[in-house]
Amino acid sequence: MRLKGLESIREGDVLAKPVYDDKCQLLLAKDAVLTESYIHRLSQANVQCVYIEDELSQGLEFENVIPDTLKIKSINTIKQAFKTLSERKSATYTVGNIDAIKDVIESLMSAIYANKDTLFCMTELMGTDMYTYNHSAEVAILSMMVAKSMGFNNLFIEKIGMGALLHDIGKMKIDSSIVHKNSELTEDEYEEMKKHPQLGYDLMKEIYNISPISRQIILLHHEKLNGVGYPLGLEESDIPVHVRVVTICDIFNAITSSRSYKKKMNADEALEVLRVESVYELDREIYHHLMKVANIYPAGTLVELSNGQLAIVVKENKEAQTRPVVQIVKSGKRAEVLDLMEHLTLFVSRTVDF
Ligand SMILES: [Fe+2]
Repeated sequence: MRLKGLESIREGDVLAKPVYDDKCQLLLAKDAVLTESYIHRLSQANVQCVYIEDELSQGLEFENVIPDTLKIKSINTIKQAFKTLSERKSATYTVGNIDAIKDVIESLMSAIYANKDTLFCMTELMGTDMYTYNHSAEVAILSMMVAKSMGFNNLFIEKIGMGALLHDIGKMKIDSSIVHKNSELTEDEYEEMKKHPQLGYDLMKEIYNISPISRQIILLHHEKLNGVGYPLGLEESDIPVHVRVVTICDIFNAITSSRSYKKKMNADEALEVLRVESVYELDREIYHHLMKVANIYPAGTLVELSNGQLAIVVKENKEAQTRPVVQIVKSGKRAEVLDLMEHLTLFVSRTVDF
């Protein structure tokens, strides 16, 4: 299987993963053969890319830490919680929602521990209208994996996961025309958007069954180590480690996601951006943990090698993620297999999207 942008999808392409609508209901099942009307349905639902099965990627599977069904359940719970928490229904209702989120965190934790050697990989299963919820779920999963790699205890990891799931809840209090805008924000709109950490913190302030650690994440996830962040402009030691974990995972996930107004970055490009930013703005040590848990070149990724040859990734290398096992592509067909750990003069120069 491999990920293909909707603009390059053709009739006859076969879906390798199901696609869901904004109610988390199945839009198209796995193995569906795409027709003109199916492609139209995908574009109506604002889906940006799908996983397809083709000759080139046949037999290539990537494992993900979190099964799709659990991810959909998490997204559904977050969506429900965001709605009711922002509507400020009765206290019992709110507490119930937080409990539902705690159950999701527990399920995610069990999945992370059960698949301990599996890396994190983006799986965009729904349209961009669901961006905030999908993004919240992915930031939570990634943050918990990074926190685990850093050796934190389970209780602390769960609180980090909870903060990460709710980090953008303040966006529910911002005009949806700004939150869902399909183009870049104006200066005024950006100023408005920058209020979401404080608005989210205010929403959570009176809720007793959420830890101060999770609340701090909601308030401080846009702070930067050199003081250029918001809302408080804190610096270095004033920014707690649990906040730093979510900040870096939030940025990584945001720049590797497809939103309608910008092209998504591949994981390798995103890590390069973060590597540069981690010199001044982000935590360098956490960056290295992120590199360990994120799958840079999942199976099925088409890449160009340093000698100009096209190749498809057939297996990741957990010890040296920048050197996967690849299969050379000649005249649209898979040819010889090379383990880049054994061919040290060759390296991946870029990911190719087609
Ligand atoms: Fe945010």
